[in-house]
Amino acid sequence: MAKFIVEKAGPLHGEVVISGAKNAVLPILAATVLTDEICTIYDVPRLRDVDVMCRILRSLGKTVEEDYGNHTVIVSGSVNTSTIPYELVKKMRASFFVMGPLVAKTGAANIAQPGGCSIGSRPIDLHIKGLRKLGAKVVIEESLVDASAQQLTGDLVYLDFPSVGATENIMMAAALAKGTSIIENAAEEPEIVDLANFLNKMGAKIKGAGTDSIRIEGVESLHGTKHTVIPDRIETGTFMVAAAISRGNVLVRNCVSDHVRPVIAKLIECGASVSEEGDGIRVNAEGMHLKATSVKTMPYPGFPTDMQAPFMALLTTVEGTSTVNETVFENRFMHADELSRMGANIRVDGRTATVPGDKRPLTGAKVVSTDLRGGAALVLAGLVAEGTTEVGEIYHIERGYERFKEKLNQLGAKVIRVEDPQNDQ
Ligand code: EPZ
Repeated sequence: MAKFIVEKAGPLHGEVVISGAKNAVLPILAATVLTDEICTIYDVPRLRDVDVMCRILRSLGKTVEEDYGNHTVIVSGSVNTSTIPYELVKKMRASFFVMGPLVAKTGAANIAQPGGCSIGSRPIDLHIKGLRKLGAKVVIEESLVDASAQQLTGDLVYLDFPSVGATENIMMAAALAKGTSIIENAAEEPEIVDLANFLNKMGAKIKGAGTDSIRIEGVESLHGTKHTVIPDRIETGTFMVAAAISRGNVLVRNCVSDHVRPVIAKLIECGASVSEEGDGIRVNAEGMHLKATSVKTMPYPGFPTDMQAPFMALLTTVEGTSTVNETVFENRFMHADELSRMGANIRVDGRTATVPGDKRPLTGAKVVSTDLRGGAALVLAGLVAEGTTEVGEIYHIERGYERFKEKLNQLGAKVIRVEDPQNDQ
C-alpha cells in the first residue's frame, strides 16, 4: 500500500487543468455494451476505477484499447457472456452500471451484488425495481443478481430517491426497450446529461436528462460514436478548495462553472473571491480571514456529497464554528475522526458534524484515507497543518483523482508518494 507524505506548504499559486469526469466516463464505458460498433471516448482520466471498468468490458468479450497518452479509450466488438466475475465487481460498485446495458443487449446479466463501502450500505433496490418495471426477471441468490429478459418493454419508473446509478442503469436499459419509458424523480447530475448525450449520439432517443423526468423512446439498435467526456466537477471543487484552504490564488482550468455553483456559493460565503476567467474559475483567498458557514449536501443541483469531505477540511481552518449536514449517505464522516487526529476537534452527531474553526493551525499526523473524497480532504488538510502529515491507503485517492500529487505540487504543494511496506495488504 502506498502513502502520501505532505509537508506544510505556503499559499498555492498557478493554474491546474481538470481531467475528464470519473463519474461520467464510468457509465459511458458501460453504455458501450449496447453496441458492437466502435466507440471512441476522449478526455478519459487515467484512474484505477477506469481501469477496472475496462477490465470488466474485456471480461465480457469487448475489445478495449486504452491510450492514456491521448486520454482516449476505444471500445469495440460484441459481448460473449453475461457474467461479470466477482473479483472485478468487488473492486468497484460502479461495475453494477453494466447490469442494465447487459440485459438490454443480451437478454441476461449475472453480476455479484456490489458490496457496501465505507460511506454506506449502498443498496441497489432502485436499480432492480427499475429493471423489473421494464420487464426483466431479477433474482437475487446468495448476493448474486441474476437478471433476464427476452425483450425489455418501456414503462414508467418512479425512483423513491433520485439515485444517480439507478437513473443511469435504467436509462441505458430503456434505450433498447420496446416502447417508451419515463423515469420520474430521476437524478439530475451533469454526468447523467453526459451519458444521455453519448447514448443519443449512438442513436438513442432520450429527452429530459438533467431534469427530474427523463423520457426514453426505445430503438431497435444503437451504433458506435465518438464522445468527449465532461470535466470532473468534483476534481474542480477539490482544487478550488485547495486554493482556499492554503489561502492561495489558483486558476482552475477546463471546468464548467455551472456544474459547481454550490461550491462557488459556499466559498464566497466563507469570504473567498471566486471569479470566472476564460475556460476556468479563479479562487483567490490570499491574505484573507475566511469565516465559518453551514453546508448541507443534497442531490444535484444541491451541494455535492462528494465535496463534503474536502470542504470540511477547509472549515477546520476558518474563523468560527461551522455545521455540515450529510443527507445523501448514512456514514460519510469517517474523515472527521482523521481530521480530529490533526487537532480539528470535530463533533459528529448522526448526519451532522460540528466543525470548530480554529485559530490554532492543524498539526501534522499519521492519518488514513477512509474513502476517495475523505483521502483527498486529508491531503488538503496536510497542506496547511504544522509539520508533516502522512496520508495512508492512498489507493482510494488514486481511484478518482488523476495525477493528484503532481497537480498539487505544480501549484506549490510538497507531496511525495512512498510505498508503505508496513501496510502491505
Ligand atoms: C454516484 O454513486 C457516484 N458514483 C458517487 O460518487 C456519488 O457520491 C453518488 O452518485 C451521489 O452523488 C458514481 O457515479 C460512479 P446514488 P451512486 O445511487 O450512483 C441510495 C465518488 O466519490 N440508494 O445516487 O451509487 C444510496 O444508499 C462516488 O466519486 C438506494 O437507496 O449513488 C445513497 O444513500 C462516491 N437504493 C443514495 O441513494 C439504490 O438502489 C445516493 O446513492 C441506489 C441508491
